[in-house]
Amino acid sequence: MPTPHIAAENGEIAPLVLMPGDPKRAQRIASDFLTDAKLVSDVRGIMAFTGTYEGHPMSVMASGMGIPSVSIYAMELYTQYDVKRIVRVGTCGAISRDVAVRDVVVATAAHTNSSVATLLVPGINLSLTPSYALLRGAMDAADAAGANVHAGPVYCSDHFYLDRPDIVPALAKLGTLAVEMESSGLYAAALRTGREALTVLTVSDHLFDPSGDMTSDERETSFAAMVKIAATALVS
Ligand code: HPA
Repeated sequence: MPTPHIAAENGEIAPLVLMPGDPKRAQRIASDFLTDAKLVSDVRGIMAFTGTYEGHPMSVMASGMGIPSVSIYAMELYTQYDVKRIVRVGTCGAISRDVAVRDVVVATAAHTNSSVATLLVPGINLSLTPSYALLRGAMDAADAAGANVHAGPVYCSDHFYLDRPDIVPALAKLGTLAVEMESSGLYAAALRTGREALTVLTVSDHLFDPSGDMTSDERETSFAAMVKIAATALVS
């Protein structure tokens, strides 16, 4: 069962997976939110842990950064480990004036400049969207989580550094909430395999208001709210 990128044996990854970008976050989520978490893979430092969440088997595995990286792990989890649901938990830069640093954003769609939206069906720009069941589970959980939660489209960029200052304001004008770099790859992998995916994000910075950086306490509170929403959606 091990793949070129995941060393876990058959049955060592749960059908429900939380997926942060950062391997250290994966370790932290496993120790703070899962019971009896055990390391099952660490190829390239991409740690995967499996334990239980409120009695449900659940894994947490990092995606690394960017659409190619998340696409590799999500495709291998869905096709080789029979994973049913992946919820990405990560950070984003807010681009909407209605969204503040430390708010939570649930990505109802992923606009993208990646070829992942155009390669799968010739001549078509695919709408990359999450599982409605996971989205509903997340929004039901959001009320209880004690965070300001926004649901709407995000911009999933192939470039962190791109000298095109026109793109983000144009997307903001069209109601896009935030920018990040993985959700379109994850949503495409789920669509390709008939499985489920969702992205839940905390706002780490605001592209039009750099004054509002989070304190470390705020970062922790908002991180915990995001993980709780994501884990509750996974078991819903
Ligand atoms: N750009 C892309 N991804 C991000 C950002 C950003 O400004 N902030 C957090 N993730």
